[in-house]
Amino acid sequence: MLSNVDPALRSCWHPVARSSEVGADPVKVTLLGEDWALVRLPSGLAAFVDRCPHRFAPLTAGWVDGDVLRCGYHGWCFDQAGACTEIPSMAGTDARPARAAARIPGGLAERHGMIFLAPEPPVTELLDVPEADDPSFMHGELDVITARVGVGLLADNFLDMSHFPFLHSATIGTEEAAVVEDVEIERRGYGMTVHSRHPFPNHEDQAVATGERPLIQHRSLVYEFRAPCSVSLRIDYEEAGGTNVVDFYVQPVDTDTCRIYSTIHRNDLDGDEGRLAEAVSFERKVVDEDLRLQERYVDRRLPLDLTAEVHVKADRMTVELRRILAELVAQEG
Ligand code: FES
Ligand SMILES: [Fe+2]
Repeated sequence: MLSNVDPALRSCWHPVARSSEVGADPVKVTLLGEDWALVRLPSGLAAFVDRCPHRFAPLTAGWVDGDVLRCGYHGWCFDQAGACTEIPSMAGTDARPARAAARIPGGLAERHGMIFLAPEPPVTELLDVPEADDPSFMHGELDVITARVGVGLLADNFLDMSHFPFLHSATIGTEEAAVVEDVEIERRGYGMTVHSRHPFPNHEDQAVATGERPLIQHRSLVYEFRAPCSVSLRIDYEEAGGTNVVDFYVQPVDTDTCRIYSTIHRNDLDGDEGRLAEAVSFERKVVDEDLRLQERYVDRRLPLDLTAEVHVKADRMTVELRRILAELVAQEG
């Protein structure tokens, strides 16, 4: 079973904040049950375990002073690499205890307007979403959501192809999608690329009203997944044209809680901010439909033993998810 705080997750990249949430005042984020201080020093983004090595005061109670973070309790200073550069009570001497260092993460990165952190040196790849930095796309951020959910179950849910007609009957579901067409899966370390296509009712297509195109159209899907839960879904509309990308990043906060970040990227809205806002609120409805069910799980861990649940052909992608996470736990746990 994979819990939100499985030790193997310490060697993975996780989203911990949107870039806009972090500035020159240290902010606390919680990942895998552990608190981190994020701050922008003049030399760049920095992260420290939110606990000063001296008397364990939260470093988020400190402040930036020149190019260091100064602890708010006794004023010890730490640079971007975590090295202690000053102990005010020892002024006049260069001697400092060898262990007087702030703990920094194994990986810290900023990409696509998000901050990613790996507590230990990461064995996973960061997700790359080319459309997120493509000026021919419009970008719409959903508000960050905090929910009582499991990271493995959310990955399972995002990669699941047979729940649309039931859980999403009020939004993206359609009878035609009940039978799942086959998928092509390509493993990439602790990740995968998956190709598929399915029918859907294109209510957004203006040419449906005029009878130029049928309501039921097709979309081809490419999922890019990186363990434990960074996923992008690129959707190309075969009949109407246009591309819609949804990215979905989950931060396992603690045993029962996750933070969910999602952004949509579209090149079919003719620069219309109103349509972008509508698309964002539609996506939020879809996510809320998923979360309403996910929050009802009592055990929020994802079973990794393939004999525990019952699988059918439509579940190939989510079976592969379990294999990837099981390997991760076996190697890094
Ligand atoms: S607890 Fe941070 S300097 Fe003493
Ligand atoms: Fe869903």
